[in-house]
Amino acid sequence: MKTLLIAAEKGGTGRTALLCQLAHYFCLVRRLRVLVIDLADPACSTVSLARASKAVVLDGERAVVLAGESHANTPKGRIQVLPARAIHGLTLEGADAGARYHANMRHLLRVVEPFADVCLIDCPPLPDIRTVCIEATVDAMLSPILLSQEAFDSAADLINGAHGVRNVRAKLNPSLRFIGLLPNMVERTLLQQIQARVLQARLSVWLIPDPKNPNGYLHMPRLEEIAKAQAVGVSVLDLTRTDHAARMAWLAMRACFDVIARQLDSVEPRLADGQAFNGEAFHA
Ligand SMILES: Nc1ncnc2c1ncn2[C@@H]1O[C@H](COP(=O)(O)OP(=O)(O)OP(=O)(O)O)[C@@H](O)[C@H]1O
Ligand SMILES: [Mg+2]
Repeated sequence: MKTLLIAAEKGGTGRTALLCQLAHYFCLVRRLRVLVIDLADPACSTVSLARASKAVVLDGERAVVLAGESHANTPKGRIQVLPARAIHGLTLEGADAGARYHANMRHLLRVVEPFADVCLIDCPPLPDIRTVCIEATVDAMLSPILLSQEAFDSAADLINGAHGVRNVRAKLNPSLRFIGLLPNMVERTLLQQIQARVLQARLSVWLIPDPKNPNGYLHMPRLEEIAKAQAVGVSVLDLTRTDHAARMAWLAMRACFDVIARQLDSVEPRLADGQAFNGEAFHA
């Protein structure tokens, strides 16, 4: 199981929308067993994915039962969602709360490892300590940002700050793959083009190269169809059957998701077989 955290320093950058659409992509295009762990508050990924019954929402007991199933029993092309409320013991309380949260997060990922190929995690904005703990546990991280000066400052902090990717990699999770910054809701206006050049000048090494454009980097346009699909709880791919504009939107999204999926393909999962869950309990 590969684990991907979608995190940012700011709210409203599209973490939940990208996570849900990526979950649909892994399920419908890649035919993978997808697990979404929704640790954001409120649990908007859970609400969106459950809206059209495109995903199975697990409660605590069902999650434990599923964890005992073998690989072969869990069908391909299915999304399962584990909201924070269903994960007993994953709370931030008392002395050493951060260390315990980190240990319990590692434990949780071992428990769910047998029944998913890819696990996507939604979380509170950084520098929330829970998100830092998750960052210290996962295989890879992707950070959507908006094209604005304020967003660039927080993106620089997300990489170089005290709780930034560099520090987390140096001290807590050396194998963390930072897939990169993904400009989201990008519009074809002059102002956005100027902002895009500023971003490239300041943070180009952290952008994701676009294989279709040697001088460009990966970004997600502002697509009305994403907001529409999120509102009804489906993939933009589902909208293409009846909506011509959705076909163009899906082509742009698919090109972007293909690159992200290939990056994730090349990541070595941390939870190698030898480290599989051995029955240890949550740290109380
Ligand atoms: N590329 C996009 N094109 C159009 N709309 C988008 C796009 N990405 C996100 N949105 C819309 O922008 C809004 C904010 O996105 P979303 O809720 O995913 O952000 P978030 O980072 O999860 O926010 P929060 O901090 O509240 O959790 C939503 O209405 C979503 O549907
Ligand atoms: Mg959100």
